[in-house]
Amino acid sequence: MIYFLPSKRFSFGRADKYYNSTLQNNTFSGLFVGQNLVTLTEVDSTNNFLKQALANSTPLTDGTVIMAESQFAGRGQQQNKWHSEPGKNLTFSILLKPTFLPVNQQFNLNLAISVGIINALTKVLGTGVKIKWPNDVYFNDKKLGGVLIENIIQGQSIKNSIVGIGLNVNQTEFAGWVPNPISVKQILQKDYELKLLLSDICACIEAAYLILKAGNIARLKAFFMQNLYWLDELRPFKTGEHVFNGIIKDVTQTGQLAVSIDGELRLYSFKEIEFLNKS
Ligand code: BTN
Repeated sequence: MIYFLPSKRFSFGRADKYYNSTLQNNTFSGLFVGQNLVTLTEVDSTNNFLKQALANSTPLTDGTVIMAESQFAGRGQQQNKWHSEPGKNLTFSILLKPTFLPVNQQFNLNLAISVGIINALTKVLGTGVKIKWPNDVYFNDKKLGGVLIENIIQGQSIKNSIVGIGLNVNQTEFAGWVPNPISVKQILQKDYELKLLLSDICACIEAAYLILKAGNIARLKAFFMQNLYWLDELRPFKTGEHVFNGIIKDVTQTGQLAVSIDGELRLYSFKEIEFLNKS
């Protein structure tokens, strides 16, 4: 069942009513991710929606998924906006409560989410699905989607994590400013059922999250590295105005990219280095 929530005028005083009435009987196979699925017809951003609901102390279970058919102010990492044609793609946010994860290990959550997404998409698309550091989902040399994780910290641990995921699924035309886009439909040459893909992604993220919870970071890291875009390849990068060739060697525990340049290893934080992809 889908409810129209006019999000600009949406009153969070009424949120519980909607949450209760949008608890859906779904076919999600996991234990908790996606068991509480809220589908919104339109919202500014599913990440914002969850953030606001948490700020209003709305009771939400671990693994709640907020999915939107349309976002009118979707947020992204690099460009700071995420555009998605209404009804054609997956735009959703997962609420996780990784209270077991110390703040200084928060990049491990990114690892788990990336591993889950790669696993789910590889089942559908075969080889070619990669993570482009830090959070882009790539298929060969094109961007299939992206992840925006926002952690709410309490003391030394992560109280709530909002994991926003946008994936191009059935869209075939993209605005000129969208960098390097590709969709599942463009790869498979046919439409793909959105809820089926959502269910698979939730199941795979849950599996990876449970590996994280069990403390098996090495397993997640190894899988992540096997599927890291441009790993061990001499490729062009840019920092400021400086263009150079380098080889990605590692991603550190705190999520920095380790690049070998003329034999010297340098570490870069998010937004400090740009990949010079061909468009
Ligand atoms: C990126 O820039 O690559 C990250 C894009 C993340 C987009 C998703 S769509 C669902 C969630 N809500 C948002 O506003 N952003 C994320």
